[in-house]
Amino acid sequence: MVGLRSALDRRRHVARTGRERAVRGAQAQPASADQPGKIPARAVIDKCRRCDLWRRATQGVAGAGPPRADVMLIGEQPGDQEDRAGLPFVGPSGKMLDRLMDEAGLDRSVCFVTNAVKHFKWESRGKRRLHRRPNVTEIEACFPWLEQEIAALQPRVIILLGATAARSLLHRTAAIESLRGRALVHASGARIFATYHPSALLRADEGAQRLRAALVHDLKRAVRALEDLGR
Ligand code: URA
Repeated sequence: MVGLRSALDRRRHVARTGRERAVRGAQAQPASADQPGKIPARAVIDKCRRCDLWRRATQGVAGAGPPRADVMLIGEQPGDQEDRAGLPFVGPSGKMLDRLMDEAGLDRSVCFVTNAVKHFKWESRGKRRLHRRPNVTEIEACFPWLEQEIAALQPRVIILLGATAARSLLHRTAAIESLRGRALVHASGARIFATYHPSALLRADEGAQRLRAALVHDLKRAVRALEDLGR
């Protein structure tokens, strides 16, 4: 179950007793998890048949990063290069993300990076495989994996990269502009920061500089939140 609380509620939440925390942990276990308490392995994700995207993808792409990471970043879905490599954010968007994280002082090697949808959705254009945005049915079909990753990892901070990640975790469609800067808290207690997807910067136009500054600003807010939590 995912819910949102205000920052004030979050402070009250942090002050709760150990017994209450144990209950919270139990609630964080998704009923649909194939292996509750464990980060879903690559081989398990690869066998997912909850929607049809697996049919045209090379493989399922699981999240990657240390199993005790405090920060989880959620993207949309694997792209062409991620689909071939079996790893998230290794293509052009990933390289852009690396640069933005560097600029914000967020070390990717200590973060868990994943996607809302684990199989690549694409259409062919000549010899190229062009990304197609996953629909709500596909996003929801994939949600149990994300839920399982969060339950196993128990991150302190969750960064939503783009509208698909936001749709998945918040279960509602909202423009990133309306979510940026809001004090969102996941039912697990993790602080949520919504920002633009790094691929928006690859379509370089006159708005790219403004978008880049906004993205780095949002990542820095997440870093500060982590520091406030003593991490
Ligand atoms: N690569 C990913 O892994 N995720 C995205 O959202 C985009 C590119």
